[in-house]
Amino acid sequence: MASKGCLIPLPEIRRFINDSMISAGSPESHAAMMAEVLSAADYRGHFSHGLNRLEMYVKDVMTKSTDAHATPVIVSEKASIALVDGRNGLGPVVGNFCMDLAMKKAAETGVGWVSARGTNHYGIAGWYSLRAMAKGFVGLSFTNSSPLLSPTRSKAAALGTNPITLAAPAKGDSFVLDMATSTVAVGKIEMQQRKREPLPPGWAQDKEGHITTDADKAMEASCLMPLGGAEETSGYKGTGLALMVEIFCGVLSGSKYGPFIRSWKNTSEEANLGQCFIALDHSAFDSGFEDRLSHLLSTIRAMEPANPEKEVLVPGDPEKWHMKIVDEQGGIIYHKNQIDSSMQLAQKLKIAPMKAVN
Ligand SMILES: NC(=O)c1ccc[n+]([C@@H]2O[C@H](COP(=O)([O-])OP(=O)(O)OC[C@H]3O[C@@H](n4cnc5c(N)ncnc54)[C@H](O)[C@@H]3O)[C@@H](O)[C@H]2O)c1
Repeated sequence: MASKGCLIPLPEIRRFINDSMISAGSPESHAAMMAEVLSAADYRGHFSHGLNRLEMYVKDVMTKSTDAHATPVIVSEKASIALVDGRNGLGPVVGNFCMDLAMKKAAETGVGWVSARGTNHYGIAGWYSLRAMAKGFVGLSFTNSSPLLSPTRSKAAALGTNPITLAAPAKGDSFVLDMATSTVAVGKIEMQQRKREPLPPGWAQDKEGHITTDADKAMEASCLMPLGGAEETSGYKGTGLALMVEIFCGVLSGSKYGPFIRSWKNTSEEANLGQCFIALDHSAFDSGFEDRLSHLLSTIRAMEPANPEKEVLVPGDPEKWHMKIVDEQGGIIYHKNQIDSSMQLAQKLKIAPMKAVN
């Protein structure tokens, strides 16, 4: 095994995730959906939400705190909205169902807004917006999650890292915003822990409510700072956005919300998360949306950079660069510690470990 990491081709990553989920007790079609979302996260460079999360889903299924066989049902609907009960199924199974329903409604009425309860962690929120964008819609998705974010002036966590995502098609281009409303996703702190590296200041608080750069102390406190960081740097705006997501997710759907969601990685009760999926048919508005968006994005990218060595980017560009690199190198390079954890998981689940090509 190379000390710098191991190169694993994408199909092998999907195979490993698929086998893991099936061995844990998931039906094949549901395991395949999980494999798609997790491998897309690593492909896009969001290592917090790919292989790094697999063990958590395996545990959820093995402890039966998630019902891997469950399929979602529509509780009520109108022309352009629906309330869905995920029946405690796997997050990606519920998420794909809901965004497909939102797109169906958008095709008929111009907009589809689907609110889900009884669901579970669904991976990168961007996956569901990208699913809508691939069919020509503007896609938005939001989810609540276990309390890990400390509202401004609070010593303890009370909100999830509640991501916001919007994916919009442009001519030969795209805009893909996919972000936690905490300064970073909790998985990024876990990744620093895996690598034994410190955190930049402003990511997390310790148990005493002070900003910490120690990944162990940060995970022990599980108290991330809102987007913007401390109050002095406008962290209250991140707190507001996290609450907005919570209104779209938990409050609207009747799922659990805020501090009443089970604690992070607790499998003694159902998560009962809330999620929100919106598809918008931009052609119902003025024509030329994709041309105008393309013009806007290229204008921003063409701005003179403040640092000549770093070009101006728009949301979605870092992920595009990452995918290009993965394609060129023929797979994803994982940190050695991630590979070691995957080997241990393979042994536990009695499946073939991932085969590296270096
Ligand atoms: N399911 C959940 O409960 C949950 C919770 C939190 C986060 N997440 C996921 O975690 C992932 C990571 O979130 P994050 O907030 O740490 O992401 P991030 O900070 O890496 O990126 C956030 C956004 O900023 C853009 N961006 C990054 N650098 C940029 C630059 N220099 N110029 C312009 N745009 C730039 C990215 O394209 C992205 O759209 C996301 O996929 C998110 O959906 C999921």
